[in-house]
Amino acid sequence: MSRLVVVSNRVAPIDEGKQQAGGLAVAMAEAMQAAGGLWLGWSGEVAETPDPEPRVATSGRLTYATLDLSQQDLDEYYNGFANSTLWPLFHYRLGLTSFSRRTYDGYRRVNARFADALLPLLRPDDRIWVHDYHLIPLGEELRRRGAGQRMGFFLHTPFPAPELLVALPRHREIVRSLCAYDVVGFQTDHDVRAFANYTQIEGGGHAEPIGPEGCRIAAFGSTVLVRSFPISIDTMALSSLAEANANSETTERLVDSLVGRRLIIGVDRLDYSKGIPQRFEAFQQLLEDHPEYRGQVSFLQIAPPTRSDVLEYQQIRRALESLAGYVNGRLAEFDWVPIRYLNNGFGRKTLAGFYRAANVGFVTPLRDGMNLVAKEYVACQDPVDPGVLVLSRFAGAARELKAPLIVNPFDIEGTAEALHTALSMPVEERRDRHADLMAVLTRNDIDAWRQAFVDALTGPPVPA
Ligand code: G6P
Repeated sequence: MSRLVVVSNRVAPIDEGKQQAGGLAVAMAEAMQAAGGLWLGWSGEVAETPDPEPRVATSGRLTYATLDLSQQDLDEYYNGFANSTLWPLFHYRLGLTSFSRRTYDGYRRVNARFADALLPLLRPDDRIWVHDYHLIPLGEELRRRGAGQRMGFFLHTPFPAPELLVALPRHREIVRSLCAYDVVGFQTDHDVRAFANYTQIEGGGHAEPIGPEGCRIAAFGSTVLVRSFPISIDTMALSSLAEANANSETTERLVDSLVGRRLIIGVDRLDYSKGIPQRFEAFQQLLEDHPEYRGQVSFLQIAPPTRSDVLEYQQIRRALESLAGYVNGRLAEFDWVPIRYLNNGFGRKTLAGFYRAANVGFVTPLRDGMNLVAKEYVACQDPVDPGVLVLSRFAGAARELKAPLIVNPFDIEGTAEALHTALSMPVEERRDRHADLMAVLTRNDIDAWRQAFVDALTGPPVPA
């Protein structure tokens, strides 16, 4: 069997005890442990003169190859084009999107460096799977260096509508790079449609539908298979972890601290795409519209900071500090604080126990590729007495999961009403909704997701 080579900016830490960086690294770690193979990415370190050759280490069936970045790389590629241009643009935040030729050149330069580092490690029958917006040009760079292996790309974020994408000065180059892969995967049918529309409008492309989830697109001189592959979680493992931690010491400390009150939980990287301010406002609205909840419900928001060199992330952090202080200052009582707002992250075990203890999972991004917290919250519930998921219609997960309470996070009053519905939902309805959700999550778990992509990647070459 041919080897799977994964490339992503973040690589899950080899040291199991270490805090993990985010959705992608955790999901890929789970997917890769089953498959084995080679995983190349950024080491997370900055070096004065980075070694062009990656450091190689092995853990179980996986070989990790990691590269350091220079400070200039970090500024131009990671903080710059990836997280100040593509991230806000792909999340529909044109007002937060900045563009400069300098950061774009840095982005291309780091992609070329990744290609140089990967090329000597490749075997002729490898299948290469590149992940996320940091590394869009990598496939094209590898092809330029003569790599003929099957190559696929998966975008973890949304793909924006063409009207938005064309605001990016180099939009054609970015999409042309995507067309250098054999397979391009997106989270949802919306993203597939946006990509197909762009290639038709801007690239003179032609899309031929293949099944309900995809199409074959001919554009920019290549033919590429484009499909949705909604990413998932290790559903059964997480379910067992939550059951085992239902009464752990940390979970009991949380439950004891509630003294019989109910709990709403939110867990996100501290990112402006997650809609956390709107969430605080919706919770405040609930307490105003339904004063009977005052002193009876607590909202725990866990939000570890991320990308803190980028100005917009510093701004959202300050805005949330001020909003949490405002709401608590207005509504707290001497023995109850409405919002427990924490900037530290927790390990998987602890989170699994917290999710299980929470009556409501509050997941309201303004735009999100998938949002794995939504899926994790569901998997962690006690099927006999499950909590309720309140989910934004703008999360990719809402295209796949039909049984949560779906909200528009821009509608603060509507979201507050959904919290009330969740908190007052009879147990039979909670069980029915939970069973529906678990049926989807056991059918499409992380293994099914990886297998579906790898199968598409292994398929016959797409005829030109
Ligand atoms: C999102 C992105 C990932 C990224 C993660 C954490 O999930 O799609 O590519 O790794 O956020 O962000 P960070 O900037 O810390 O890697």
